[in-house]
Amino acid sequence: MCGIVGYTGHRQAYPVVVKGLKRLEYRGYDSAGVALVTNGTLNVYKKKGKVADMEEYTVGKDLGGSIGIGHTRWATHGEPSDRNAHPHLSNSGEIAMIHNGIIENYAQLKAELLKKGYVFHSDTDTEVLLNFIDDIYKETEGSLEEAVRIALRRVVGAYCILLIHKDDPETIIAARKGSPLVIGIGKGEHFLASDASPIIEYTKEVVYVNDYEIAIVRPDELILKNLGNEKQTPFVQKLDLELAAIEKGGYDHFMLKEIFEQPQTIYDCLRGRLDADAGTITMSGISQYAEQIMHAPRIIILACGTSWHAGLVAEYVIEELCRIPVEVEYASEFRYRNPIINKGDVIIAISQSGETADTLVAIENAKEKGAIILGIVNVVGSSISRASHAGAYTHAGPEIGVASTKAFTGQLAVLIMIAMKLGYEKGTLSKERYLDLCKELASIPDKVKAVLELDDQIKAIAEKYKDATDFLFLGRGYNFPIALEGALKLKEISYIHAEGYPAAEMKHGPIALVDETLPVVFVATKDSYHEKVVSNMQEIKARKGMVISIITEGDTVSPTLSNDVIVLPPADEIVAPLLSTIPLQLLSYYVGIAKGLDVDKPRNLAKSVTVE
Ligand code: G6P
Repeated sequence: MCGIVGYTGHRQAYPVVVKGLKRLEYRGYDSAGVALVTNGTLNVYKKKGKVADMEEYTVGKDLGGSIGIGHTRWATHGEPSDRNAHPHLSNSGEIAMIHNGIIENYAQLKAELLKKGYVFHSDTDTEVLLNFIDDIYKETEGSLEEAVRIALRRVVGAYCILLIHKDDPETIIAARKGSPLVIGIGKGEHFLASDASPIIEYTKEVVYVNDYEIAIVRPDELILKNLGNEKQTPFVQKLDLELAAIEKGGYDHFMLKEIFEQPQTIYDCLRGRLDADAGTITMSGISQYAEQIMHAPRIIILACGTSWHAGLVAEYVIEELCRIPVEVEYASEFRYRNPIINKGDVIIAISQSGETADTLVAIENAKEKGAIILGIVNVVGSSISRASHAGAYTHAGPEIGVASTKAFTGQLAVLIMIAMKLGYEKGTLSKERYLDLCKELASIPDKVKAVLELDDQIKAIAEKYKDATDFLFLGRGYNFPIALEGALKLKEISYIHAEGYPAAEMKHGPIALVDETLPVVFVATKDSYHEKVVSNMQEIKARKGMVISIITEGDTVSPTLSNDVIVLPPADEIVAPLLSTIPLQLLSYYVGIAKGLDVDKPRNLAKSVTVE
């Protein structure tokens, strides 16, 4: 949700900032802009649309200067437009600022500023905060840093802000609360960004700024302070990320690249943890809390979007293997409803980005009430991973396509391993079945590879159904959340209305939609629910719905009820969701492509939702 870049050093800032914005465009892409200090002039260029539109607009303009800040926006306050794009300029014309987050008490601050004669040129909360800072800066006649510090003590909401002043061609003032900020340390230069992707081609040494910290960044200096003006020691970390991981590598889209990376990413997730021959699962973060989790009266899973679907699969798997009651909650609902958290309850937070505002606040609330927090996160060093007591990374690598694919299968792999490990240690999972599941899980990367070979077939199916106006996705048991995920993926990528439903529940409503124009996707791999699902297929067929079924090799009945079948290799029902989700990812990708849509950046969406 909004990408932020800053540079101060010996290079020309503009190309560094624009390249960084392109890497962060997955975070928001309804407008973009930069501010540069060039020979004592503060130049601001901004445009509605993609970073490329802004770049086109800057052709022939003065782009000099070795300090700059840039922003790619996902609108919260005010429609996407040139005037609402960031950076914003203070009324004095001296300070430029970019912002990721939401200022909740902006109306009150704005009223105060209007009384003082301030004029606003946009509908954004950002411009209010900037002028609030500007006002304090003028009144106190102190430093910009001090004005920022005083202002932020009165601000309610979430922010990551970067400011530059026209008379200071070296200094970027940055601050964060709730929205991420990473600072890359180079030789005589510093890079600031919402995540590490704009930074890695220049340096691997980074500092993750904490909430309530202000950074004063110059080419040769990085000072961190808290809001009480006390210096903090920057904790320098080494990035474990390669440039190739954030480039398309020959694929047309990041989404396709990421779908095809899954044999490797699932393997990477299992590597060093699952040893199928020895029958061991090593997860140090989980082991630390194994006793508490195994004997927890209840596990509550908190997540949003696709991660919430991974949580639903985990509910089925953990209850089955560990016999612990599990509740899966939307973080956005949980955080506002005074939830009951009892002594010993364990919270599992699932998040690709590790920055989703609702999930972050929900776990902070639960932590205050004494719960143990385990984070299942993809982005190393992200806010949720740092706010958790322990957890496990999914190791899927950077996911750039806005719709989650490889991070989802990484989440499933981690959660299944946790359930197997705890179930076995607790004694609710027999040794024989445990060893069997270890082998099943270890075989998944190769089986995913086999499923990806169905690419052409799935592309043809996508072209056949691309003009449908609605889709229904049905599944039961472990495949019910996969049906939900299939529907979400199609909505996100193709803008076709789609509903996911438990196959049997379909009789209580959605069946009314069925006619000869409705494609119904059955996630119907061989499991203990299979015969029931086949009966549901009969019910759809009897009403002339078009059935696309995802089935297991050897199933001879489903094809007789289906218009199209996608046949997967056999797998134990516990690990089957790792396979059955793959064709649904490809289906939505190819429907989106057939409709000529921007699959990596679907309209209105953002990858990292850092506002509630
Ligand atoms: C956004 C993304 C989804 C993602 C969800 C939760 O909506 O577009 O792909 O599933 O946020 O994000 P998280 O990073 O917490 O998994």
